[in-house]
Amino acid sequence: MSSWQDRSAIRQRVEALGPWFHNIDLAGVATAPAHFLGDYPAVKWRRFEHAIAPDLTGRSVLDIGCNGGFYAIEMKRRGATRVVGIDSDERYLEQARFAAQVTGQDIEFHRLSVYDVARLGERFDIVLFMGVLYHLRHPLLALDLIHEHVARDKLVFQSMQRGGTELAPVQADYAFEDIAAFDHPGWPKLHFVERRYAGDPTNWWVPNRACAEAMLRAAGFEITAHPEEEVYLCHRTAAPDDGAAVYPAAAASSLKDGGSGGP
Ligand SMILES: C[S@@+](CC[C@H](N)C(=O)[O-])C[C@H]1O[C@@H](n2cnc3c(N)ncnc32)[C@H](O)[C@@H]1O
Repeated sequence: MSSWQDRSAIRQRVEALGPWFHNIDLAGVATAPAHFLGDYPAVKWRRFEHAIAPDLTGRSVLDIGCNGGFYAIEMKRRGATRVVGIDSDERYLEQARFAAQVTGQDIEFHRLSVYDVARLGERFDIVLFMGVLYHLRHPLLALDLIHEHVARDKLVFQSMQRGGTELAPVQADYAFEDIAAFDHPGWPKLHFVERRYAGDPTNWWVPNRACAEAMLRAAGFEITAHPEEEVYLCHRTAAPDDGAAVYPAAAASSLKDGGSGGP
């Protein structure tokens, strides 16, 4: 039961913690009623929630880039035993802590970058990685780190996509002279944003559909469902033999010894 009963006190706190990206209903107070995407992310969630198990009892969930806590709260509402939300931005974490408090959900929140997930020292049954990839300067590294350190079974992934939605068949190899393949509309493309996109300087790399799917596979995630345009459900598999990009940090002495630093 939440200790926050007074709507005007909630409204005051919501305003003090704003601006919000997540529109969450806190005992009748909407946190971002004028969101440019409408009732976001509820409108998105409604389009893929059927693909997530309705009963998450006994499962652990990690929400990476949890923002105001919308998805973490939904996971807890489905009975997940343990939900951890991480975000690099303390302002959003404060919002998430407040939203969890008002809705009476027991969720752990930490300020942590996706690049530091190894510090959690734990794998989770379900990892949510929604709306973060295109905000990263090193997106494939982030997926590799999630695979290497925190994903046990399922990954729920979402990215903004731009460009075509066609998929070219993926061949095992391409001849050096095969230049045309790169111009196929279904070739994976990660569009680089040098300055801003939508006024946001943290939009760095925006994949087309083929690229979002290829990056997931390349990081060791098998796509099992595609319930919404931008949302993928994946199953963690072994990382591809030739794709492992994450290495344990080499011991300082290995350089002096002339060693490669590898095991
Ligand atoms: C567009 S919002 C997506 C929020 C939420 N996951 C969703 O799908 O609605 C991106 C979130 O990622 C967070 N973020 C950006 N870079 C991050 C990083 N390196 N590690 C963790 N979170 C990050 C931002 O602070 C922000 O809360």
